This record gives sequence, structure tokens and C-alpha cells, in this order.
Amino acid sequence: MKIVPLTDEDRVSVRMLELACIREYVETIIGKKWEEFDQEVRQKLGASASGSFSHYRDSGLSFVAKEGDKVVGFVFAQMIPWVDGIEKAIWVENIGVDPEFRRMGIGYMLMRRLAEEGKKMGGNVIHSSISPDNISSLLLHKKLGFLAEDRKIAYLDLSNF
Ligand SMILES: CC(C)(COP(=O)(O)OP(=O)(O)OC[C@H]1O[C@@H](n2cnc3c(N)ncnc32)[C@H](O)[C@@H]1OP(=O)(O)O)[C@@H](O)C(=O)NCCC(=O)NCCS
Repeated sequence: MKIVPLTDEDRVSVRMLELACIREYVETIIGKKWEEFDQEVRQKLGASASGSFSHYRDSGLSFVAKEGDKVVGFVFAQMIPWVDGIEKAIWVENIGVDPEFRRMGIGYMLMRRLAEEGKKMGGNVIHSSISPDNISSLLLHKKLGFLAEDRKIAYLDLSNF
């Protein structure tokens, strides 16, 4: 198992894995049916969507976990120049691990690699949005030392403003 920077060769497999993780999140945490999302909406979901893949590939802060040639985990992240009064904050857009490879330390290794590389790039903090109902994600973040109690990121869609 190795953790390597995201490249173009991962595009198709990481897309499939991220969509599978999003589907799982939608069905188990939000409690909605995947079929409620039409094809156009599904295409735009996730950091691996065609509009944002290159951005995350080029951030230097997105990584995949590979078992042989198989992509079994991912983290998509980027550096934000200023947020909430903090210069150089790293934003985690999404992290996921193939269900068959969970509880093997892969999520932890992906986040550790992100933290190491982010620090080398001058990053001061990592921000990651967590649903309090997502216990695995919450416990993963806590194990890494994140302050995670009662934290959520509020959201305003400016297309409706
Ligand atoms: C959250 C997720 C990425 C964790 O990946 P993982 O590779 O299974 O996590 P790890 O094996 O590295 O676990 C690290 C720690 O997290 C905690 N943890 C992870 N999954 C857990 C679970 N199901 N139950 C309890 N603790 C869990 C444990 O503290 C674990 O350490 P331990 O094994 O020494 O007890 C994975 O469950 C996943 O892909 N979930 C679906 C997608 C998702 O929810 N992503 C998060 C969006 S913010």
C-alpha cells in the first residue's frame, strides 16, 4: 500500500470511488435515495468531477492510496490563502476509502501525508467539514488531533441570493 500524489492516470478510478463514497454518505447519513439525484447533478458531485479534478490534482495536496495499481483511497485538498483570519489554511474537500479496505489505517495515512506536505508548503491549519452523524469520519479526525466537537461549516448558495 502506498500513498502517492493524485495524477491523471487516477482520474477514472478515483471518480468511481468518490461517487461510491458520496452515494454511501447520501443513503446512510442523509437518508436520501441516490436515484433522487438526476444524472446532471451526479456528474457535478465531488472533487473528482470534471470541472474540479485538475484544480485538486494541481494543488499538490491531493493524494491517492494504491494497493498495486488499484486506487483504494483518496483525499482531495487545497491551500486557501486566508480564511477565518488564518493565513495558509488547508481545506479538505473530501476523503474516502474503499469499503473493503477500511479500518486498515489508510484514511489516517492519507491525512498524515496531507498534513506533512501541507506543512512543507507553509500551511498553518487544516480545516475539514464533518457531519456529526458520520462517526467513522469524526473518530478519524479525532485520532489525528482535530478539534471536532460541534463543528460544521454553514453554507449560503449565492445563486439564490
Ligand atoms: C472515514 C473514512 C475515510 C475512514 O477511513 P479508514 O481508512 O477506514 O480509517 P482508518 O482505518 O485510518 O481509521 C483511523 C481511525 O479512525 C477511527 N475510525 C475509522 N473508522 C471507524 C469506524 N468505522 N468505527 C470506529 N472508529 C473508526 C478509529 O479511531 C481509527 O483508528 P483505529 O483503527 O486505530 O481504532 C472511511 O470510513 C470512509 O471512506 N467513509 C466514507 C466516506 C466518508 O464518510 N468520508 C468522510 C467525509 S468528511
